[in-house]
Amino acid sequence: MLRVSIVGASGYTGGELLRLVLDHPQLQVHQVTSRRYVGQYVYQIHPNLRKRTRLKFTTPEALEPVDVLFLALPHGEAQKNIERWAELATYIVDLSADFRLRDPAAYERWYGQPHAAPAWLSKFVYGLPELHRQDLRGARFISGVGCNATATILALWPALQAGLVDTQRPIIADIKVGSSEGGASPNPGSHHPERANVVRTYAPFGHRHTAEVMQELGLTDVHLTMTSVDMVRGAMATVHAWTHPGVTEKDLWRAYRQAVNENPFLRLVKERRGIYRVPDPKILAGSNYADLGFALDEAHGHLVAMAAIDNLMKGAAGSALQSLNVALGWEETLGLTFPGLHPI
Ligand SMILES: NC(=O)c1ccc[n+]([C@@H]2O[C@H](COP(=O)([O-])OP(=O)(O)OC[C@H]3O[C@@H](n4cnc5c(N)ncnc54)[C@H](OP(=O)(O)O)[C@@H]3O)[C@@H](O)[C@H]2O)c1
Repeated sequence: MLRVSIVGASGYTGGELLRLVLDHPQLQVHQVTSRRYVGQYVYQIHPNLRKRTRLKFTTPEALEPVDVLFLALPHGEAQKNIERWAELATYIVDLSADFRLRDPAAYERWYGQPHAAPAWLSKFVYGLPELHRQDLRGARFISGVGCNATATILALWPALQAGLVDTQRPIIADIKVGSSEGGASPNPGSHHPERANVVRTYAPFGHRHTAEVMQELGLTDVHLTMTSVDMVRGAMATVHAWTHPGVTEKDLWRAYRQAVNENPFLRLVKERRGIYRVPDPKILAGSNYADLGFALDEAHGHLVAMAAIDNLMKGAAGSALQSLNVALGWEETLGLTFPGLHPI
């Protein structure tokens, strides 16, 4: 058993990590931090964990050396203290955006200020096993993924990988997200009367996750539009792209089938009948699956690629644990096989 601590465990991704680690056969939770709830039982903040653990929150200052340290902190906090975190643990998995981009100049451009530890950017591997399985094997430093970036990347990646997409033409991702994406701290926009029932486009373009999509898919002309919708968990990417002349629906079937056959958490949802014909984040709550779908208007070469995920799972804690499993040479699916609920 490896000993694990979670920094920022009172938050949404930290709580999800804790839920996963408590069920993982090779991991044992040592400490979990919160400054606000120090001394309180974790189930007082994450009531789903009542009777699963009697751990109490400690302060980040009280952290002891462990094998694995998960950082689930607000943007900017991990990079400030990266030397300290690295002294505390052999493996670091950071869920924030601090170590996702490899290029310090790109980081500064998208995040509006210089990176506090630019030398560390090249040490981290982007924690999406579907794209980085080889690099993750034996990796000590793993960055988490952006949830909107993950949905966009996975929607398009099978078609891109197969060389079916014309990358000289613009690619536009329309992404709908649930409220848990904003984290556990409230703000005026997350207040229930303001957030309930919304379909609110809050970033028509320029969303920071665009940088991850560009980096991971090697694209330049890609644009993300973000819309808040009335769900708690979930991100749904609908990506519009143009295929090369002559590409058929059959070519896409082959590409998406290959991707789902080679990756345990990718599923293809493309049915002719019934109500589950395309991916839907509703049925993925708590699950690490990414459901992919596509439709092609052959006459115009217009590809609509889709991916649904749970932002807290495949878009955060699930991918983080999946990446750690790969880094440690364990079965990739260990502790991650929950299929989701239906109905929900
Ligand atoms: N929510 C998502 O869907 C999602 C998806 C992918 C990635 N992420 C990324 O994951 C990270 C965590 O997101 P989240 O949604 O879990 O946020 P959150 O719910 O706001 O949780 C943040 C956690 O960090 C702690 N914290 C805050 N400031 C701190 C500081 N200066 N030092 C130590 N601890 C501090 C908070 O607890 P105390 O204040 O009590 O210490 C809390 O436990 C973010 O960087 C986010 O961008 C989030």
